[in-house]
Amino acid sequence: MKIGLFQFAPVRGRPDTNAATLESALRSADCDLLVAPELATSGYLYLDRAELASVSESVPDGPTSARLLRACRETGRSIVFGLVERDGEKIYNSAALLTPTGCSALYRKAHLFDTETLVFDRAGASNDLAVAAGAKIGLMICFDWRFPEVARLLALRGAELLAHPSNLVLPYCQDAMVTRALENRVFAVTANRFGTETVQGTTITFTGRSQIVSPRGERLVAMGVDEEGVRIATIDPAEARDKRGTGRNDLFADRRVDLWAGLLTPPERPR
Ligand code: ACM
Repeated sequence: MKIGLFQFAPVRGRPDTNAATLESALRSADCDLLVAPELATSGYLYLDRAELASVSESVPDGPTSARLLRACRETGRSIVFGLVERDGEKIYNSAALLTPTGCSALYRKAHLFDTETLVFDRAGASNDLAVAAGAKIGLMICFDWRFPEVARLLALRGAELLAHPSNLVLPYCQDAMVTRALENRVFAVTANRFGTETVQGTTITFTGRSQIVSPRGERLVAMGVDEEGVRIATIDPAEARDKRGTGRNDLFADRRVDLWAGLLTPPERPR
């Protein structure tokens, strides 16, 4: 299976322009599945919900999904990308997995970061796992990396590859995702953006360095901070099905859940 990632700098407030960029990357990428950044259609920083609503769209009926679904059908490829998703009055930070046969998964980001909490709705459970291009794909978005339970649950449910659209602003995630891949023995594709956005005097800079990591923790692809383009790695998803560490260890079978009851205690300040 050929897996690709697309690192670019979406133009804030221009879904049509960004959708055209995504379509062009998908059509020219020699891969089975392409992973693009979080909020790839809209840009990242929105402090005003009405402005956020103006760049939102539904899935799979919205214009970007329609356009990319056509490209998936015509190329036989699949894509994961992030967008501002509208569902009635609700607005979510979401990632869609589109394949030649339709929309296979639509994940709404569970852990909103910083100013996202001001404008996006809080998501419940969503459809975060599907088979595409011969692999079981689990979806997580950016700051979800900071909660190891997200990747672990996807892996326990059979994900072989974590597709991780991101708009990272802190420098830690790329190394943490090596650990997420290692501790779950899965492939992890972090498609980050680069560039800077300034809104109402707030400036943020994104950290690029998109990567594809193997279940052994090797970086198969590692991009620079400001590089733009598609990078591809050939992987065997079956590698992620073997959870053995040594002849006497299995990462999933060895879990001491009998010692971990406290993990499910609700937080004191539920959000
Ligand atoms: C992030 O979750 N976009 C930092």
